[in-house]
Amino acid sequence: MFRLIFTFFFLFFYCDCKILNPVILVPGDGGSEFVAKLNKTTAPHSWCVLHTDYYFSLWLNLEELAPFVIDCFTDNMRVIYDREKHITHNPPGVETKIPGWGDTRTVEWLDPSHISPTSYFSTIVNAMVKWGYERNVSVRGAPYDFRKAPNEYADFYKNLITLVEETYALNNNTKVILLGHSMGNPTTLYFLNHQPQAWKDKFIQSFISLAGVWGGSVKPLRLYASGDNLGVAFVKALNVRVQQRSMPSSAWLMPSDMFWGKDEVLIERPGRNYTVNDYQQFFMDINFMDGWYMRQDTANLIRSLTPPGVEVHCVHGYGIPTPGTLVYTGNMWPDSQPNVRTDDGDGTVNIRSLKGCLHWQGKQPQKIYHVPVKGAEHMEILDNKDVLVYLKKTLTS
Ligand SMILES: *[C@@H]1O[C@H](CO)[C@@H](O)[C@H](O)[C@H]1NC(C)=O
Ligand SMILES: *[C@@H]1O[C@H](CO)[C@@H](O)[C@H](O)[C@H]1NC(C)=O
Ligand SMILES: *[C@@H]1O[C@H](CO)[C@@H](O)[C@H](O)[C@H]1NC(C)=O
Ligand SMILES: *[C@@H]1O[C@H](CO)[C@@H](O)[C@H](O)[C@H]1NC(C)=O
Repeated sequence: MFRLIFTFFFLFFYCDCKILNPVILVPGDGGSEFVAKLNKTTAPHSWCVLHTDYYFSLWLNLEELAPFVIDCFTDNMRVIYDREKHITHNPPGVETKIPGWGDTRTVEWLDPSHISPTSYFSTIVNAMVKWGYERNVSVRGAPYDFRKAPNEYADFYKNLITLVEETYALNNNTKVILLGHSMGNPTTLYFLNHQPQAWKDKFIQSFISLAGVWGGSVKPLRLYASGDNLGVAFVKALNVRVQQRSMPSSAWLMPSDMFWGKDEVLIERPGRNYTVNDYQQFFMDINFMDGWYMRQDTANLIRSLTPPGVEVHCVHGYGIPTPGTLVYTGNMWPDSQPNVRTDDGDGTVNIRSLKGCLHWQGKQPQKIYHVPVKGAEHMEILDNKDVLVYLKKTLTS
């Protein structure tokens, strides 16, 4: 009798509880923490540290970006391109690690000191915990070397397969939701494009994309030509340009010729204009030919936009002025920040690229939900109230 009552309670009050689909967060460009250890023989300045016998926080660490030491930072954070092997590696004497695999801490806060401008997925994770999620168990993080592009993510993708399967098992064989931000979305698309359908059917519930960069964006062109201070007032764009140019991910995120026409001017400068068909010339003119090789290595990774083969929730902002054409006049080219003719978008990614997920409508049996959110800026989308309401509905109903 006691046993029967117990079973009754067990069935109705315990087992009947709905298990939430676990979520794995895939961050975007700049959204993973890096630690580094040094044993270098040279550095740009005498005051740069050459040796450490411990790993220190390299990204994101606002102290590393301070004037004087920023050149030390860029010299450690840049990658070096190997034209023969078509891969990149750290500079000599720099060892990097990406801490926190599978956990949320390093994708919630980029800076271990939790200084507020460096919060990343923390608002979303805090909300999810209120909805019944548990950090490191049913909400997890998949940080990676965002300096590179999927052609160099073999290890990351292998680990991601394991993380998905492990998370599925850890949550009573419940299908996993992949939630990406920005470049984390094309990164996830490439992953899904290379997984068997049977695997996706078994392990993946859906793919929620926030601010997905499906067809590139004009902004990386400015970063190549003139550097980008990332909105940090004390950072000088030209000081970080060397490091930014060195990243294959910058090449990957250039505007795609599937989204921009051959007659659309992306950059205007005295004597020459550049379109999607002029990238070789562009890299010649900024004297950075490695960029052209990296562009060729990465341009086709998701160019054809093959459907992911899972349910998609495509959430993005619009209605925010976004660089559309970069205009250099007088002798601004290339070292001064250009004037900008704006386009619609989320402030970083042009609207046509954000809407790239619509290409899949009718091309796969799984549903594509399109959720445009007016005024959700590229980073602010991670704290946006309407987006949180949509996530709550999608994750808990
Ligand atoms: C540091 O690099 C030098 C070569 O430049 C090497 O001889 C030495 O063993 C390295 N030290 C450590 C701790 O790895
Ligand atoms: C999640 O893992 C991190 C280590 O990466 C740890 O610091 C944190 O306390 C863990 N959180 C929970 C809720 O267990
Ligand atoms: C999974 O089920 C087991 C028993 O069937 C239970 O102990 C455990 O709490 C469940 N896990 C989750 C995440 O609900
Ligand atoms: C560049 O494009 C603008 C229009 O966007 C045009 O007015 C200008 O003549 C072009 N310049 C060159 C050098 O082709």
